[in-house]
Amino acid sequence: MRVLLAGATGYIGQAVLRELVAQGHEVVALVRPGRQLTMDAQDSVTRIEVSLTDDADWHQQVPPVDGVISCLASRSGAPRDARQVEFEANRKLLEYAERGTVRHFVLLSAICVQMPRLAFQREKLKFEALLAESSVPATIIRATAFFRSLVGQVERVRAGKPFLLFSSGNTTACKPISDRDLARFMVSKLASPPLSTAVLPIGGPGPALTPQDQGRLLCETLGQPFRTTSLPPEMFDWIRWLISPLALVSQSMRDRMEFLRIAKFYATESMLCWDATAERYDAEATPEFGDDTLQAFYTGLASGEIALPERGEHSLF
Ligand SMILES: NC(=O)c1ccc[n+]([C@@H]2O[C@H](COP(=O)([O-])OP(=O)(O)OC[C@H]3O[C@@H](n4cnc5c(N)ncnc54)[C@H](OP(=O)(O)O)[C@@H]3O)[C@@H](O)[C@H]2O)c1
Repeated sequence: MRVLLAGATGYIGQAVLRELVAQGHEVVALVRPGRQLTMDAQDSVTRIEVSLTDDADWHQQVPPVDGVISCLASRSGAPRDARQVEFEANRKLLEYAERGTVRHFVLLSAICVQMPRLAFQREKLKFEALLAESSVPATIIRATAFFRSLVGQVERVRAGKPFLLFSSGNTTACKPISDRDLARFMVSKLASPPLSTAVLPIGGPGPALTPQDQGRLLCETLGQPFRTTSLPPEMFDWIRWLISPLALVSQSMRDRMEFLRIAKFYATESMLCWDATAERYDAEATPEFGDDTLQAFYTGLASGEIALPERGEHSLF
């Protein structure tokens, strides 16, 4: 298949690009002006520089494709950027898909949109709703936590410092998934478009791990004693309250308020399927895929076999 890949320079986008090439697909990778792909030049990959958010004619450079995969994501999570990327840029991709020969649109989304409290989650849901109404068959992949989101404390544990937890570290959990497994899952869906829009939550191989479990695993792997420091998640509310007067006059402070909301969300919510009847997260109901375990990933980081992934702009730890 010839596949249009948006977000090919991102953490998951890079893995999807590798997987598409490995499976013999022809890839048209959209990148922002000046951005390079991390994989070596391949005959099967055409890199096209476009500004999806600013250039109305971006699609004129794009050849007809059979499928679209979007791994686009706001790098900051700030409300304006989230609207432009999670909703507007994806909407433009969908418009292109609807005009052309596209048989399947695969969207990388996030399991956290089940609890839409944040600007980026609402923008994702708005776009998911457009996909559901579209004539183009679509698969929405709502992933749980990526391995990359669970490496923030590697350096502090290596330095002998305690592992930081919110509350007891037992109130949230996730089924972490590697970039490679998620890419395999996404590409495996490409050839079979659903009759109506499919929404697929997906995690890595279980069991679900709490922050306590992750901390213990990391400390053991790095040969450090498992010591913890507990922080109250309410600290994000207190900081928000303190800076709220400045947010009345400053856009950057309003963005900061949103980053604090994001931090509180991840400190208090699980990345698992939500059971609305029982009003709890359900690890059993959260589908699993792949072979890569967090244990093996931490072991690779400890030995230097795996490089520490670059983290997002507003990573907390
Ligand atoms: N972190 C987690 O644990 C987790 C869990 C589940 C789901 N998710 C979801 O997974 C998705 C992708 O995550 P990721 O970590 O792969 O993201 P990422 O590494 O931040 O990559 C984002 C991609 O979007 C592109 N992009 C951003 N702003 C753009 C713009 N204005 N115009 C064009 N392209 C733009 C980036 O291009 P540049 O390289 O040019 O910036 C990059 O290719 C997100 O939707 C996220 O919510 C994350």
